[in-house]
Amino acid sequence: MSKEAGKSKRSTPKLAVVIMAAGKGTRLRSRRPKVLHEVGGKPLLSHVIATAGKLAEAEDIFAIIGHQAERVREAVSGTDVRFIEQKEQRGTGHAIQCAREAIGGYEHILVLSGDVPLIQADTLQHLMTLHLAEGASMTILTAVQEDPAGYGRIIRHSPDRAEVDAIVEQKALKPEQESVREINSGIYAFKVGPLLRHLDKLTNNNAHGEFYLTDMVALLHSAGEKVAALKAVNATEVLGVNTIAELAALDASIRAATANRLMAAGVTIFRPETCVIDAEVQVEPDTIIEPFVQLLGSTRIGTDCRIRSYSVIENCTLGNDVLVRQGCVLSESTVADGARIGPFAHLRPGSEIGQDAHVGNFVETKKAKLGKGAKANHLTYLGDAEVGAGTNIGAGVITCNYDGVHKHVTRIGQGSFIGSDSTLVAPIEIGDGAYIGAGSCITRNVPSGALAVGRSRQVTKEGWAAARRARREEEEQK
Ligand code: UD1
Ligand code: CA
Repeated sequence: MSKEAGKSKRSTPKLAVVIMAAGKGTRLRSRRPKVLHEVGGKPLLSHVIATAGKLAEAEDIFAIIGHQAERVREAVSGTDVRFIEQKEQRGTGHAIQCAREAIGGYEHILVLSGDVPLIQADTLQHLMTLHLAEGASMTILTAVQEDPAGYGRIIRHSPDRAEVDAIVEQKALKPEQESVREINSGIYAFKVGPLLRHLDKLTNNNAHGEFYLTDMVALLHSAGEKVAALKAVNATEVLGVNTIAELAALDASIRAATANRLMAAGVTIFRPETCVIDAEVQVEPDTIIEPFVQLLGSTRIGTDCRIRSYSVIENCTLGNDVLVRQGCVLSESTVADGARIGPFAHLRPGSEIGQDAHVGNFVETKKAKLGKGAKANHLTYLGDAEVGAGTNIGAGVITCNYDGVHKHVTRIGQGSFIGSDSTLVAPIEIGDGAYIGAGSCITRNVPSGALAVGRSRQVTKEGWAAARRARREEEEQK
């Protein structure tokens, strides 16, 4: 149901999304708030907010925060989510009680859990559609889990009943209920009127001494309100994260899905289970990714590339036919077609490596632009530098870009040759086709076509070693 489709109908009910994210996550045994733990390279809560943002009919998204609220608020400050504080975390029912004022103006709310990150927008849309069609006061998203341990169970007075009679938490299960594999996902649609009328009737008379939102089922039921349920088609979408092991399992399943998507589109990934690839990464067909590679953030890689083992590439754009050899770290940089990087190269932010350029062993670049076919093959630092097309940077060349206070730029023209172990003290310009003698310390500009040698002249004393030896022997005999 899109906003457009909604408008053409008589009226779209006013809907808000409420994400419960105030809990501490005791079972994670971590100082970090649970919803900021990451799967697939993003905090749990960010996944849920992103999904909520896809629901065109939701007018507002609220997050209920409490435990380390400031930290959570800051982590998702880039979104248009609005915050509700639950100062003391006295249970999921208490969380919604804290949202009473915020939700008062809506007809329906969709309640999501900050620790159920894989939920998909179309599943939520189905839940809302069923909720409205049934005229239910509460509609629960359920799922049949292979291993239901730890989840609240969906209890129906008779198995073929469409309506749910109660949700019973793990600790309160009667022996005959332990085998129920239909679980509560912690995701619900509510009609706001009946919810608010009965919300304060929740009690904390249970094993955890908490106010359970799940008890609304029985409360609404006894008030004659309809409680419906939708079984999720894909049970993994509603997996919750309560322990680090569950977190790691969920992360692995997200990574596997991403790798499978790329492989289905023609990308070769050897030992995909060892690679860490973020969901937004794009790779063109016929590129080969070797084991233990990480492709992160908004990285894009062209066709016919090879990314060798142990390289970590974050927020970079690589053209076609690029080779990244073993053990490279590339961040926020671009690499043009045919370039060769590594092994053990470090491209720091703002590096632009031109077509067919080479950046070799133990070379570090930062805000450095290498022209077409330029080469820096060994042991070099290029910071705040421009290197023209075809220029060769010898082994061990250093741009001295920092005077202790400011950063300065080094400009090197095309087709130049910078001899090994030279230091170029910026700000400095070296023209086209210039030569710098090996071991030079260059402090003044070098015009095009010139040779600059900035080192002391070599002194050779023939026979010096034998003379020294003779002197020492004489001294020892005294
Ligand atoms: C809850 C459900 C359970 C369901 C499971 C699905 C209850 C009582 N139980 O159990 O039936 O099967 O989710 O994953 O609701 N939160 C707050 N404030 C609080 C307490 C929790 O905002 O005072 C938030 C948490 O941060 C979390 C979510 O609510 O994001 C669920 O809380 P959690 O304690 O993890 O509930 P479960 O025991 O998993
Ligand atoms: Ca949970």
